[in-house]
Formats: sequence, C-alpha cells, structure tokens
Amino acid sequence: MAFFVWTEKYSVGIQLVDDQHKRLVEMVDDLYEAMKAGRGNEILGTVFNNLLAYTRLHFAQEENLMRQCGFPGFAEHKQLHEQLTKQVIDLGEQFKAGKSSLTVHLASFLKDWLVDHIQGTDRKYVPFVNAMNSR
Ligand SMILES: [Fe+2]
Ligand SMILES: [Fe+2]
Repeated sequence: MAFFVWTEKYSVGIQLVDDQHKRLVEMVDDLYEAMKAGRGNEILGTVFNNLLAYTRLHFAQEENLMRQCGFPGFAEHKQLHEQLTKQVIDLGEQFKAGKSSLTVHLASFLKDWLVDHIQGTDRKYVPFVNAMNSR
C-alpha cells in the first residue's frame, strides 16, 4: 500500500483546489518512496525542491482565492502557509549544507500537516468562495 493516497474525504469541493491537493499528496508520496528506497541526495534534493516549488504555487493561488472572496480569516491562514514554507525551506538548507539528511520522518510530518490543513484550515474559506461564485 502506498504511503499517502488522496481520498474523497480530503475533498473541499472546489475543483482547482482539490486538483492541487491531489498533486501535493502525490509529491509527498514520491518523497517518501524516494527516501524509503534510499535514493541518493541528488534525487532526493530534486524531489524535495519540486515539492517545495509546488507548495508555494498552491499557497499563492489559495491566497489569491481567499483575497478575491474576502475571506475574513485570510491573514491567519496565510500565516500558517508562511510558517510551513519557512520550516520546509530551513530543512532544505540544512540538507543542502550537509547538516541533516532527509528522512521518512519529514514525509510523515508533511503528510500529517497536509491532512490536518486540508481537512481543517482549508475548509474554512470554502463557503466564502462558493458565495462569491454564486453572486
Ligand atoms: Fe491552505
Ligand atoms: Fe490547500
């Protein structure tokens, strides 16, 4: 069984957001598989960088959506995105500097963060996006 698979219960009901979350789930799974298979640092670094880049793209698009619909929890939500991004960037820098290795714990941490964020935090802006779309 795969480490991390998208399921219907993660759906927030907005196609664009669900598609991006599906891709993020796949990328965290790829990272886990690469670590578990003991891939070299070069491959791990590439998988990690791809995940970071896509995460930033997703966060930016989600923040645009929240801004457009006037979501009142925008600042708080954006702060959670920034905290995670900073944590991941720090890890990447430690890895690049040879000060730490990328382990399966990182994939577990990202999986837990993502599930929690998708099912809790991301759901909060959905009614505001739906209201905007039905105006
Ligand atoms: Fe979010
Ligand atoms: Fe999200």
